[in-house]
Amino acid sequence: MKKHPISFKLNGEKVSIEVEPSDVLVDVLRDRLGIKSPKVGCDRGDCGTCTIIMDGRTVRSCLALAVEADGAELVTLEGANTSRKWTRKLQEKFHSKNAFQCGFCAPGIILSATELLEKNPRAGKHEIKEAIAGNLCRCTGYEPIVEAIEETVKGK
Ligand code: FES
Ligand code: FES
Repeated sequence: MKKHPISFKLNGEKVSIEVEPSDVLVDVLRDRLGIKSPKVGCDRGDCGTCTIIMDGRTVRSCLALAVEADGAELVTLEGANTSRKWTRKLQEKFHSKNAFQCGFCAPGIILSATELLEKNPRAGKHEIKEAIAGNLCRCTGYEPIVEAIEETVKGK
């Protein structure tokens, strides 16, 4: 199949790469660019483990074709923890509160929470639950996750 040259910014660095029209963004990130924080859970848009930020909004990278990233600005957890105000604080709080076990869901949840706190730095429990409703966790239960985000908001 004919390959298409695309280029985008990934965690602040310019990337140029050739992709097939059917290549899925999460696969290109993980398998060709070595970006491992977006995980493939369901591969059909249900679990949120493949969440990344594209042009300032969270997207499910299992549902995006790589060609859609042409000209875009992509941020994954690898870059967000230095470039976004809330991400490292969230990571540290998740760590100190043991808000994850296997960690498979954590990058997606932290990016969803980052997006929320960038829009609403005073988000309460209700908004937090809504913001992470599309991110499934099979291990921890949501109580410590929501508490970790609440405590990040409060700066505790
Ligand atoms: S792997 Fe993308 S939403 Fe589950
Ligand atoms: S910590 Fe294992 S899926 Fe959430």
